[in-house]
Amino acid sequence: MTLDRRIVLGGGLALAACDRRADAQIPGGQTPVAIPPLRSAAAFPVGVCVQEEQLGDPSLVPLIASQISQVTPEWEMKMEYIVKDDGSFRFEAPDRIAAFAKANGMRLFGHTLIWYAQVPGAFERLDEKRAKFADAYRNYILAVAGRYRGQAVGWDVVNEAVAEDGNGWRDSLWSKKLGKLRHMVLAFQHAREADPDAVLFLNDYNLENLPKKRATFMKLVEALLKAGAPIGGVGTQTHLAADLAPGEITRALKDLASLGLAVHVSEMDVSLTRSRGVLKDRNKLPAGQSRLYAEAAEAFSSLPAAQRFAFTHWGLRDKDSWLKRENPADAPLLFDDAGRPKAAAAAWIGGLRA
Ligand code: G3I
Repeated sequence: MTLDRRIVLGGGLALAACDRRADAQIPGGQTPVAIPPLRSAAAFPVGVCVQEEQLGDPSLVPLIASQISQVTPEWEMKMEYIVKDDGSFRFEAPDRIAAFAKANGMRLFGHTLIWYAQVPGAFERLDEKRAKFADAYRNYILAVAGRYRGQAVGWDVVNEAVAEDGNGWRDSLWSKKLGKLRHMVLAFQHAREADPDAVLFLNDYNLENLPKKRATFMKLVEALLKAGAPIGGVGTQTHLAADLAPGEITRALKDLASLGLAVHVSEMDVSLTRSRGVLKDRNKLPAGQSRLYAEAAEAFSSLPAAQRFAFTHWGLRDKDSWLKRENPADAPLLFDDAGRPKAAAAAWIGGLRA
């Protein structure tokens, strides 16, 4: 099932798909702003995460289609959806997201093959035999990455491998069974075997505010390359707090780009409620949010064009954000609940460089 192709794509300066309640105020008392579509303002692909159940939302789908050029399944291409209790696989939801991307001329980005945080029971029950485990690990990656071969432009092959304090790499069932570095090398090699063309990424978070974690992440990339892993890109999730100090994003992107690989800002949002309390006046948090979106846009668009893989927002409307499920008062994205662009959207576009 693919969506109705007659989706009107906004052109020129246009208010994004808006709620009719013109009097409704955007959080922080901001009035709606007029912006060009994100995808036409940027000189690189602009992504968003999407869930299969959102593809039936008549106000969200036109907003995605008018603003976005790449989609990342928010959770349906992960083991938690694909691997059933009996060890068999299901693909209905990711296939629907892939079909939506194709029907709307959007790129598809695969997220994520191996993550310490997701170890389905079917794999845990394999634990006793290493050879069987290694086969199941390879078969999973071949099945999933192979299924979207020719459509997925890239994959987060390994997600969040670095310890939060920057002291080494995380333990997981994958590392215990197949080796701390080796399980990652194998994951990249199996993904390459499944898809000869997709750009293969190592993805992580807090690389902006934790320089030690960023340094360990970069050393891991170098170790993977040295071990023969076909890694082609680095993903920095960019889940930020609105009181992050100016310059941190720029420093992080410059460091990451120094590896010479593709760079993907893979999951950006800027929380107003997760701030670390360093800002005395909390009323300044919306302005801090806009400043960070502008800095991220400027720093990313200042990278060499060959390294600008994509800039992905982890949701378009505040109400779609995972952070909203944690704190309903949060408003971390570029568009408000009604789909109207906020000052942060204008700031992100304002930060773009040709
Ligand atoms: O939609 C189903 C619902 O139908 C079902 O009844 C319910 C019961 O299990 O599950 C719902 O799906 C949930 C899904 O989010 C949609 O809300 C999944 O359980 C839940 O696990 C899933 O959480 C996702 C999480 O990753 C784990 O996969 C979040 O949406 C997603 O935003 C979050 O994204 C991560 C990135 O992958 C990695 N970086 C951090 C980022 C934020 O945590």
